[in-house]
Amino acid sequence: MSEQQLFKVTIDNISIEIPAGTTILEAARKIGGEVAPPAMCFYSKLKGSGGKCRTCLVEVSKGSEKDPRPMPKLVASCRTTVMDGMEVKNITSEKVTDARAGVVEFLLLNHPLDCPICDQAGECHLQDLSYEHGKNGTRYEFERRTFKKHDLGPYIQLHMTRCIMCFRCVYTADQLTTKREHGVLDRGDHAEIATFISKNLENDFIGNVIDVCPVGALTDKTFRFKNRVWFLKPMDAHRDCPQCSGKVTLWNRGDEVYRVTARKDEWGEVEEWICNTCRFERKQTSDWIIEGPRKIDRHSVISQGHYVDTVMPTETFKSVNNGRSPHLLLNIHDVSDVNNEELKLDNHTASTQSTI
Ligand code: SF4
Ligand code: FES
Repeated sequence: MSEQQLFKVTIDNISIEIPAGTTILEAARKIGGEVAPPAMCFYSKLKGSGGKCRTCLVEVSKGSEKDPRPMPKLVASCRTTVMDGMEVKNITSEKVTDARAGVVEFLLLNHPLDCPICDQAGECHLQDLSYEHGKNGTRYEFERRTFKKHDLGPYIQLHMTRCIMCFRCVYTADQLTTKREHGVLDRGDHAEIATFISKNLENDFIGNVIDVCPVGALTDKTFRFKNRVWFLKPMDAHRDCPQCSGKVTLWNRGDEVYRVTARKDEWGEVEEWICNTCRFERKQTSDWIIEGPRKIDRHSVISQGHYVDTVMPTETFKSVNNGRSPHLLLNIHDVSDVNNEELKLDNHTASTQSTI
């Protein structure tokens, strides 16, 4: 078997060796942290995704060892494969920061700023993106486009006004379910996610569109307006499911299961797809075997008030005091006259006299 060819690529001054054919975005994710560009449409588990939103733009300052010329324009890192000796700038490039702010402004042209009432608040990728890369104003002066809310079957609601046309839900339906019944209709400013002649979406794995949607356009009708995600306690749980892996995250408050979602990795992507039965029809704690609290990135608002992996000090006073038990080091009565009845009386008399 021939050995896999490795390319050396440097991103934000950090070098890494990765197999030929890897995209810049995936290489940057291998390095991790802030070096990885944000991605609103690329989804590593969905074939063909990426290339729609332009949030992952990076600067290629050196094309390759053979042809070191820089690329003339910023490129979409999710769609550009690495070359040997390539040098890329992401957070170290002013051009990228500026372009990304422009992309955020563009994505927000039509997106409503209804975070205070949106179910996705606290876990919305667009919300994070605009805090991290956006500007605090817009130059857009026209009316935003609006749509009526649409029920897509018994469990999913489409709020098209919030959609950023990332196409993830279309790929999910195409690749996970037996029959896709929704897609992008029309073009340009008129483009919208819609079902053909308002068909319901009832396929078995269609609930996953809720998890892949980076904004609050596709929401879980069994959870809408029930609670804020940061008030809930995410718990890893599983059940023996004949259709999917049955590995989920339960979002509990006390013993009550408010919603069930797939588990997501550090890039906000689903680890294993789950079926509709697990997601929508198993809302009792007793339906699940609880594994323990889900680890949430501590920068996320969801982690507020959740103390996972806190280490309680194990040593007792005795063990840090050479085996001696604590003893009274000071008897307060020896040094204070606070309980001395006579003194108390004297003080009282003194204070009464001074007020006369
Ligand atoms: S509904 Fe959500 S997942 Fe589908 S295209 Fe719009 S933003 Fe993307
Ligand atoms: S993530 Fe690359 S274009 Fe959207």
